[in-house]
Amino acid sequence: MEVISDKNTLQIQIEKYKSEGKSIGFCPTMGYLHQGHISLVEESKKQCDITVVSIYVNPSQFNNLEDFEKYPRDIEKDLTLLKNSCVDIVWVPNQTEIESVELDFILDFKGLDKVMEGFYRPGHFKGVSEVVYRLFKIVQPNFAFFGTKDYQQLQIINLLINQNSLPVKLIPVETLRAPKGLALSSRNARLSVEAIELANEIFKQLNEVKNNISNTNFLALQNTYKQSLQAKGMEVEYLEKFDFTDGTSRLFTAVYLENVRLIDNIAL
Ligand code: PAJ
Repeated sequence: MEVISDKNTLQIQIEKYKSEGKSIGFCPTMGYLHQGHISLVEESKKQCDITVVSIYVNPSQFNNLEDFEKYPRDIEKDLTLLKNSCVDIVWVPNQTEIESVELDFILDFKGLDKVMEGFYRPGHFKGVSEVVYRLFKIVQPNFAFFGTKDYQQLQIINLLINQNSLPVKLIPVETLRAPKGLALSSRNARLSVEAIELANEIFKQLNEVKNNISNTNFLALQNTYKQSLQAKGMEVEYLEKFDFTDGTSRLFTAVYLENVRLIDNIAL
């Protein structure tokens, strides 16, 4: 496994692989890796000849400096995990190199920047789309792997690719969960052992809503959801149903527990 920080070295290496006819799979991350990230890597390894993982905590997608600074980091542990997963290249860029890439793209969010994560984290998706565009521009992957854990992000990256005709195929990877349902997330590391147990209730209650959605008024379901999670020490920021233009619908939620913001979503 090669660990590269310099952009030119990375591009030379990727060009070499491409000239040998090898396909490049790319998994962008912000590090503090867990098995959810590794499921992206495994998918890439199945579908591509070469797997590139980036680790970059992107400041422009955080709403405040405190959240950015508190974001967990452990590069040595990440590298061990990636090495054990047989990743070919780990790219750890610095902010200057990332920001040297011109933002010459268009993006119509189709309203997705105004709802749910977009509403509660103003500017978040602007930061995400800019950094992903820049990462794509440098890596030039054939395939990019994104988790459905961040479904709104996945949809926005899809818009970014389509509206700019980027030569990369987006591959969604299902949310990996702990045995009792909690979606794996780097932020879970900031929770106490007791809170991690309590947080399983989010997935359980999302499924309760799903099972009752056809026969109960949604406002009543939202209230029951909020009360059930409040009883376990959680503060619900939102629970929303969103209908996508492709005809699919999902439930989306954000919840605070021990001051940590957790998000999840499930298909309806
Ligand atoms: P990060 O939160 O590190 O997530 C990196 C990728 O891992 C995303 O595609 C995310 O959806 C996926 N992922 C996270 N938890 C997962 C789980 N439990 N199961 C499956 N996949 C999971 O998302 C970001 O970083 C950033 O916004 C980024 C795209 C890197 C841009 O900065």
